[in-house]
Amino acid sequence: MGRVGKLTCLAVTCVVALATFYVSKEAFTVLAPRSSPPTWGPTVYPDAEKLQSRGNPFASGAAAVFLGTIAVRAAQQNAKEGSTACAADISGGSLELFSPAKVNLFLRIIRRRPDGYHDLASLFHTVAFGDKLVLEVLPEDAEQDQLECNLPGVPTDDSNLVIRALKLFREKSGVQRYFSVKLEKEIPAQAGMGGGSSNAAAAFFGANKLCGSPATPQDLIDWTDDPVIGSDATFFLSEGTAYCTGRGEIITPVEQLPIKDGLSVYLVKPNWGLSTGKVFQAMDLSALSTADPEELLQTFKDKGTSHSSWVNDLEKPAFKVSPELCELKDFLAGEWDFEAVLMSGSGSTIFCLGDPKGGAEAFEAATKKDFDIEGIWRTEFMRRASPTEWYTKASS
Ligand code: C5P
Repeated sequence: MGRVGKLTCLAVTCVVALATFYVSKEAFTVLAPRSSPPTWGPTVYPDAEKLQSRGNPFASGAAAVFLGTIAVRAAQQNAKEGSTACAADISGGSLELFSPAKVNLFLRIIRRRPDGYHDLASLFHTVAFGDKLVLEVLPEDAEQDQLECNLPGVPTDDSNLVIRALKLFREKSGVQRYFSVKLEKEIPAQAGMGGGSSNAAAAFFGANKLCGSPATPQDLIDWTDDPVIGSDATFFLSEGTAYCTGRGEIITPVEQLPIKDGLSVYLVKPNWGLSTGKVFQAMDLSALSTADPEELLQTFKDKGTSHSSWVNDLEKPAFKVSPELCELKDFLAGEWDFEAVLMSGSGSTIFCLGDPKGGAEAFEAATKKDFDIEGIWRTEFMRRASPTEWYTKASS
């Protein structure tokens, strides 16, 4: 071949190689986000349809083989850019999450720790009463999270556990994305139902999902081991039933308890709250129950709620702080024939299992007549269907 012929051939090869490189890179760029599509929940990925529908002949396996080293180079380059490219695609993605309350089926205090916290041993369970959280990924150039809440008085700065959870998620995952959060509160504050911690856990779970799940369910559990988002947040990342120890953040998952379907859980919240810190301060460590928490756990595993082993070591100090709460509990445990009546967490909610003798209406009216009550909610126990699915509120 003459010199001109060789040059022409080289030029044609270069043009073909460059064109192939460009097209194959596009192919991988188009394919890349498919590794993190929304597979559950009401996620809205604005670009998802566009990404799925952009056909490209070089996306096929045969074409990829044909493209050989050029395609591999493109894939490697794309992988290097991976997190940025993927992060850019998620702007505007949103997720609506139910954020359930919890009750403590038993709560034993074990010891005071040198760091000021107390080791506890408690069986936590989620219920189908809770808040709603709508999380949306802000554009890539956003520099802070935004939080709106329907309730006046709920802090929306970084003292809110949701904002702290999002910050913690960025620190742990390395994904530098910010979110807007709309929070609709139903769970009262200072109620012992884990409202703030539940919101933090939901935000943590949602942020991870919207960012293409860089963390596994176990990572999320490990990453929330930080007092900055409260001692109960980790529990909500379980499947809804867990034996919690340490500050409450060491969780042992518990299978579904043998509780009868549709068992009523009445949450009775007086019109005053209790500060967890104050209740712990009022505790007399020499006056705790002596029940063995492992035995209590076994009783719940064997008998569900059909037994008489109901213990919450925080009741005594809570009743010291609020003698009226003790009167409320006595009233609830009186003539209504509930299966069980117990304070949840550090109060001030008292939950009652079963249905009241005389009917719900008479029960509510009588309770509200005699006590200053913020709310009485009838709900049921609930769990997550699997570690990758979030809690879905049962229809009421
Ligand atoms: O974990 P959270 O921030 O809700 O705890 C509030 C306060 O309750 C803590 O600052 C601590 O005084 C007390 N607490 C405790 N032991 C625990 C949990 C909370 O003493 N396991």
